[in-house]
Amino acid sequence: MAARITKSNFGKLPDGTAVEQYTLTNASGAFCKIITYGGIITELQVPDKNGKLGDVVVGFDNLEQYLGSHPYFGAITGRFANRIAKGKFTLDGKAYSLAINNGPNALHGGLKGFDKVVWKATTSESKDSATLKLDYTSADGEEGFPGTLKVAVTYTFTDKNELRIDYDAVTDKATPINLTNHSYFNLAGSGDVFGHELMLAAENFTPTDDTLIPTGEIKSVKGTPFDFTKPKLIGKEIDQLFGQPHKGYDHNFVLDNQSKKLALAARVVEPKSGRVMEVLTEEPGVQLYTANFLSETHGKRKTYGQYSALCLETQHYPDSVNHSNFPSTILRPGEKYQTTTVYRFAVG
Ligand code: GLA
Repeated sequence: MAARITKSNFGKLPDGTAVEQYTLTNASGAFCKIITYGGIITELQVPDKNGKLGDVVVGFDNLEQYLGSHPYFGAITGRFANRIAKGKFTLDGKAYSLAINNGPNALHGGLKGFDKVVWKATTSESKDSATLKLDYTSADGEEGFPGTLKVAVTYTFTDKNELRIDYDAVTDKATPINLTNHSYFNLAGSGDVFGHELMLAAENFTPTDDTLIPTGEIKSVKGTPFDFTKPKLIGKEIDQLFGQPHKGYDHNFVLDNQSKKLALAARVVEPKSGRVMEVLTEEPGVQLYTANFLSETHGKRKTYGQYSALCLETQHYPDSVNHSNFPSTILRPGEKYQTTTVYRFAVG
């Protein structure tokens, strides 16, 4: 059986816009479901050590719940993933002001970010993979950002149980851009993630102030709970971070690989199921978020709660627009924004 992609209806927005769900199935039967609303990964079924498929992402089984409030489950976040301090930045001498939606700051692209728009789908199949390309044009001034931004996010699910995400964009005016996917993973399928073992290829991280905005410092992880350079259980030192404001891991790690070439950023092992997830990226950073703010939520045949999943959001550093020592997030006319992240599943 070759990889294939099928389409079904996933309901309608209040204005009548249809939302579709695509199922990308590979030769071994593992599959991934993605909807055109927010480009949300709604389901990702990969084998455990006994070959049994299980869903490793948090989500809902109906559009209604995705239209309600939830913390970006599975969604594409943009135009600027993560925080911008006080929602303000200056670009080429002009000051911009964005909506404040997270304490005093702007988070994940605004009130109606890329997680809340309907993307246009195109599908294709090859011998060993199925592909869903999602296109969206963000208007000049949308959510306060300058320039018409044409974005494509391409999901490819391969016979090697890899979910590859290619992000592409062009603009007609200089704009900040930082795109990621906000999937919440639990490789056991349920319970908390304290027993997940994590390795991060990051010797440094970006400490934050009380509103989770980086201070600008690039700090060594050595001797701190942020040291995942050798595999460590998520639960081992997380209690040191249970206090305010983070309540757990919610930090950007500075990846050792700054070459813009695809390299291993993270490896997660869940010993009971034997599932392993490797994250490869071209991005310079990754936000580790352990669902610290997740309140009890009834989702797909289960209830999710605090610490019941982890996000590894590959990205540029938060608030990069206000830190000249961070890699630039400015895209200019004539340039191409192109970045790839791969979530690779295996058993070990
Ligand atoms: C990101 C942020 C977190 C939180 C989640 C969504 O991971 O860093 O602080 O806002 O998104 O709830």
